[in-house]
Formats: sequence, C-alpha cells, structure tokens
Amino acid sequence: MTSAEDTASPLSRTRAVAQSFGKRARDYSRHAHLQQHTARTLAAFVCANGGLPDNGRMDQGRTDQGRTDQGQTDQGLVVEIGCGTGLLTELLHTPGRPYLATDLSPEMLEQCRARLGQRQGLSFAVLDGQDAAFATPPAAIVSNLTCQWFADPVAGIVRLARQTALFAFSVPLHGSFPEWEAAFADLGRTSGLLPLPSERELLAALEARAPARLVHRVEEHRQHFPSATAFADSFRLIGADQPRPGYAPGPIRPVLKRFSNGLDATARILYGLVMRETL
Ligand SMILES: C[S@@+](CC[C@H](N)C(=O)[O-])C[C@H]1O[C@@H](n2cnc3c(N)ncnc32)[C@H](O)[C@@H]1O
Repeated sequence: MTSAEDTASPLSRTRAVAQSFGKRARDYSRHAHLQQHTARTLAAFVCANGGLPDNGRMDQGRTDQGRTDQGQTDQGLVVEIGCGTGLLTELLHTPGRPYLATDLSPEMLEQCRARLGQRQGLSFAVLDGQDAAFATPPAAIVSNLTCQWFADPVAGIVRLARQTALFAFSVPLHGSFPEWEAAFADLGRTSGLLPLPSERELLAALEARAPARLVHRVEEHRQHFPSATAFADSFRLIGADQPRPGYAPGPIRPVLKRFSNGLDATARILYGLVMRETL
C-alpha cells in the first residue's frame, strides 16, 4: 500500500487511485464479485422503477411520476461515472442508445472499450467524476460503486444528482465490513478501509441540496472469505486497495489469527434513484 505521505494532496490521491485501478484493469472483471452483484442489482432496480429515459422521450412509468422537459437535456444521453471494465455498462446500454462510459483510469476505460467498443452508440472518455460538469444535462447519469472514491462522496453524489433528470447509483455505506473494523478496533486501531458516507447524511444532503423524488434501498450483502488475506485480496486484486487518507500500516498478525477459520464480511450497499422534474 502507498504511504499516507504519498497521497496527502487531493490531486496526488486521485492520481494514486487511478494508478491502483489501472494496474489491475486486465484482471479486474475476473475478481470483481461484489461489483458484479451490485451492477446487476442496480440495473434491476432501475428497470423496476421505470427504466432509463427513452432516446428522446421519457418512458411511461417515469412520465407518470416526474416529467422532465427533454428539450433541456441531451436527448437520451446516458453518462456513466466510473465504468471500470463495463459491468454496469453492458447491462444498461442497448444498441443505438447514446451512452458515454467514463472512468478516471485510462486503463480501465481501455478494458471497457475492448469488451464493448463494438456496440453502436457507446463512446468512451477519461473523466474525474467528482469534478464532472455537463454543459447540457445528460438524460441520465449512472454509477456503480464508484462515488466512495471521491474526496467528498456526499458532495460528489449531490453534485451529479443536480445535473440530470435521473441519477442512478450504488455506493457502499458507513457500517460496511463491521467484522473487519471490529478486529482493528480490538487492537486500538482503525483499518485502512475507506471512510464511507453515512446513510442518514447522504439522504439528508440529497433532500436538502438536490430536491427530487428519491427512491432507495439498502442491502446487506455478506460474502464469505476463507481468510483475512482472501478478504484483503478482494480489494487488492481489483485495484481497490488504496488505503484511506492518513492510514499508517501496522502489524496485522492478530487480525490474520482472528480470521484463520474464515470471515463473513458484510457490505452495506445503498442503491439510489434521484429523479428530478426540473433542472
Ligand atoms: C470499484 S470500481 C467499479 C467499476 C465499475 N463501476 C464496476 O461496477 O465494475 C471503481 C471505479 O471507479 C473509478 N474511479 C475512482 N475514482 C474515480 C473518480 N473520481 N472519477 C471517475 N472514476 C473513478 C476507478 O478507476 C474504477 O474503475
């Protein structure tokens, strides 16, 4: 893991995150089990709540609940933030639909292009999602397990939600992986896992700063790992192993011992749809 000093400034932190994912881009899809699960769940959640806006017109389900003046938006364009190798992209994109897949990491984007680049309507761009500003609002913005990497995830989510008629996203919440955190707390330390947004803070911020119809659900997703090393590898092998800013690594032998018979790790995932009538 990179030392805390190396990633002290926001810019170097962003660069380090991009590099970590970039190094693992080739094998990412093979190891991204949680991301595959949440991509499927998010796509199903979008579908169950009216689907993506049609090209140039809203579908019936959403028209009934919140009409958006499509004249104000980039007709039918879907922008994905942090597409990675395209696990969500391949579920949401339909042939001919204008869809811009973006990621901070050029290598991740290249893998996405290699897998899905033949699809009509799909285009690709390197983009830092926490700064994204669209001259013409996209019809929808979508994102799967990416916003937790922003310097300020709540502010970044609100910022994206304010720029589109439909923002569909998944994000891990504070309280995820309590089993791992407890092992470090017993040592008088905090683990290197990212600080995650709290459900209450995130929902309150969306309500206050991006007034809209919000539909959400929270899932507790448990995965079994045969050892502490296997749990750490689930982050390392996909490049999601940049530690939280300020993390100082220390001996973890007691953690390895504690989980020598395996570990059930629980992720708390929020799936959200922010639907705005006016932009
Ligand atoms: C855990 S992966 C999820 C990738 C993909 N959404 C999926 O479901 O497989 C996180 C992705 O977010 C990208 N990422 C991290 N920080 C980002 C940022 N500030 N803007 C855009 N993408 C970012 C990483 O490069 C990586 O591809």
